[in-house]
Amino acid sequence: MKLKGKKILLGVTGGIAAYKSAALLRLLQKQGAEVRVVMTPSATRFVTPLTFSSLSKCPVYTQDGGTEARPYQHIDFPRWADLYLVVPCTANTLGKMANGIADDPVSLCFMSCLGDKWIAPAMNTAMFLSPAVQRNLACLRGFPQVHILESPSGKLACGEEGPGRVAEPAVIIQALLDAPEKNKSTPTFAKKVLITAGRTEEAIDPVRYISNRSSGKTAAALAFAFQESGFAVTVVQGPMEATLPVGVDSVAVKSALEMHREVLNRASEYDVLIHAAAVADYRPKIVSSEKIKDSRSHLVLELDPNPNILQDSVAAKHPGQIIVGFALETEDAARHALEKWQKSGADLLVLNTPVALGSGFGFDNVSYALISKENTAPELQMGSKESLAREVVSFALSSLGGKK
Ligand SMILES: Cc1cc2nc3c(=O)[nH]c(=O)nc-3n(C[C@H](O)[C@H](O)[C@H](O)COP(=O)(O)O)c2cc1C
Repeated sequence: MKLKGKKILLGVTGGIAAYKSAALLRLLQKQGAEVRVVMTPSATRFVTPLTFSSLSKCPVYTQDGGTEARPYQHIDFPRWADLYLVVPCTANTLGKMANGIADDPVSLCFMSCLGDKWIAPAMNTAMFLSPAVQRNLACLRGFPQVHILESPSGKLACGEEGPGRVAEPAVIIQALLDAPEKNKSTPTFAKKVLITAGRTEEAIDPVRYISNRSSGKTAAALAFAFQESGFAVTVVQGPMEATLPVGVDSVAVKSALEMHREVLNRASEYDVLIHAAAVADYRPKIVSSEKIKDSRSHLVLELDPNPNILQDSVAAKHPGQIIVGFALETEDAARHALEKWQKSGADLLVLNTPVALGSGFGFDNVSYALISKENTAPELQMGSKESLAREVVSFALSSLGGKK
């Protein structure tokens, strides 16, 4: 992208590398960008706001900078900007951004910014490699319009050596110059995903039904992962034990016919459809209105096929919509799943098998493989339902054109 004429908001947090932000500001100005600065209270202990207000020729937005006079700085600063750079970004601020905490100017601007956000994490190696920071980084990588700049290895200010250094100002400038141009007037608002979850129950009589062992855990992990990536999530859910994350819109159904109706009625409104529910293939031809009496004699249940929700939603698919199917196979899994993917017309088919010990129904782990036009030679791998969900989210994001 061109930096000439760009309005850039520079967020500075309380790391030892904060002094480098002044050099970055000057380089951005040299490229013809207009820069304003926002600082956390900790950052003001490392470099004074006066340094940045003098260089930017504009008041710096700080925690104690007169909220009465300018009550909407947390909206006005990011709205003014074409993009938001947070350099350096501390472990603390990274954690706030990943978890929706907005209690200082830098994290507040991150949340209210509609444009692209570029983050340069900088910290001690042990902090950088800690599980919390790595999880927060992985989480932020999944956010729309967020770009994480590499924290290279080298000698750190604390004397230790390893990854966690702040990206050099010149490297940041180059990364911005290499990035594609984006039109700020068309911010990316949340995309919508519809997920089917749980199992269906096919009534035999008022008290009995045919069903399966699906727990809904995979669908709940998917709902969580999509929500975390900024999607508005709707779940059409059959009976299930797993709990959906707060904030998900859910529609409860029992039978395959109800699930078919609820999904097909609303499918066109969604960018992504995920068919994760274990829908019964058949339902009793006749549902007895009274409990079937126990005669202990031979009883034959005649079954009718249920509609194929995946197939019907593929037939009604709109351009640009991404459809993901699930296939549970128990023998010759890869071959059967490949055939199912080819026949279904889905963009992605997730093959899963419950045969491995300690995986599948009700367990946290699952043996799975993803089949798409990029991968037609599926190899089953054992992983958590969360990692399966994250892979599906990455596929959806890259197919929708939001790949970072
Ligand atoms: C001398 C000194 C250097 C520090 N350097 C860093 C750093 O490079 N990265 C980091 O994540 N935290 C660093 N910290 C800790 C942060 O200042 C601390 O977590 C603070 O709460 C961050 O606040 P902020 O994220 O609101 O700016 C440092 C602290 C001190 C005293």
